[in-house]
Amino acid sequence: MKADLLVHSAAELITAPPGSKPLVGLDLDHPLLIQDAAVAVVGERIAAIGTTADILAAYPEREAAHVLDARGRLVAPGFVDAHTHLPFAGTREMEFDARARGESYEAIAARGGGIRASVRQLRAIDEDALAGRVVRRLDTLLRQGITTVEAKSGYGLSTESELKQLRAVRLAGERSPVEIVPTFLGAHEIPDEYRGHRAAYVELLTREMIPQVATMGLARFCDVFCDRGVYTVEESRSILLAGKGHGLLPKLHADELADVGAAALAAEVGAISADHLLHASDAGLDAMAQAGVIAVLLPGTAFTLGLPYARARAMVERGLAVALATDFNPGSTMSSSMSIALTLAVTQMKLSPAEAWMAATANAASAIGEGARLGRIQPGFQADFCLFDASDYRHIPYHYGHEHLHAVVKRGRVVLEGVQAWTCT
Ligand code: NIG
Ligand code: FE
Repeated sequence: MKADLLVHSAAELITAPPGSKPLVGLDLDHPLLIQDAAVAVVGERIAAIGTTADILAAYPEREAAHVLDARGRLVAPGFVDAHTHLPFAGTREMEFDARARGESYEAIAARGGGIRASVRQLRAIDEDALAGRVVRRLDTLLRQGITTVEAKSGYGLSTESELKQLRAVRLAGERSPVEIVPTFLGAHEIPDEYRGHRAAYVELLTREMIPQVATMGLARFCDVFCDRGVYTVEESRSILLAGKGHGLLPKLHADELADVGAAALAAEVGAISADHLLHASDAGLDAMAQAGVIAVLLPGTAFTLGLPYARARAMVERGLAVALATDFNPGSTMSSSMSIALTLAVTQMKLSPAEAWMAATANAASAIGEGARLGRIQPGFQADFCLFDASDYRHIPYHYGHEHLHAVVKRGRVVLEGVQAWTCT
């Protein structure tokens, strides 16, 4: 048989075991590992994986259109970053400074900084300029091995600005090999002009913004920041159900700052994921496990804000599917590094390196509804994978703050090769 792309002689290949469902509970710790591995790609899809001897016997090297010798390298699925606020207009290092001097994230938000500062910046930028910034960020993500990214609106908080933000995301996606999955997060904060009458903003969300976003096909999910000082459980329920009624699957920023019962709400509305969960109660987590809601954990946020980490071990042991993401945003997590998220997951939340990898690939794909197409190196799946300058998957989270990426394959095409990985092992 003839491969369009053949990757052979990899020191190691890591992927989830065959399947398309999220890895629940302790299954997270059992990836499929192949030594001296090879991958055959036909068109945009994986045709076969196995040992180099087996794959070359079925797909001769001389017949392949393109060949990558992966000697000494690790082959892994491209990272799926399942939670980001990618389309932001500007940065907020002054808040970083203020937090270092003792002011809390919530106090900064209460005095009109935080998300509302990002809203002022976003409303002032035009769509093309914003799309240009997103394209440059996508390039950075690709250089970190991220092949798919979820991107939320939520810095517009008016119909016009939310639509502008989502259109900029779509435009940027057309200009980059990185695939973007958009989420409508009009309920990220209460905008300044509605702070005295928040019910009117909830009406605007449910009656105007959600229907328009859905009709224009600008988002796949509807998210709400359900937490202390932001949206209540009642408000969140009505927004998420309105979204669901228009075909936007629910997602939540849940119980990040306090336990307000957002995890249980995620279960009640049939959310695809509930994210953050730093303060989620046992009952909330059990309800999520029962309803099959994926827990998307964002250790970079706890790291940046100095908050307690989510109870990842308890979640795995309670039978939840755990995923990992960056939460890349200018306030609580100015980092798009999935490999650092892996390191924090291992060192701070006590996931094993294997669990962290599975949470950042197969389960992350499931958290954005793409578990049957992305996140695994498996026959029939889209050929999105990376080559790293490491011979053992554990080396990536272990050797942190270091770029190990060598090459990226997206939709079966080598879109980045010979990245100058730093050498100092
Ligand atoms: O996921 N928690 C709410 N939203 C973001 C922070 C957004 C911001 O501060 O700009 C988060 O951490
Ligand atoms: Fe977030």
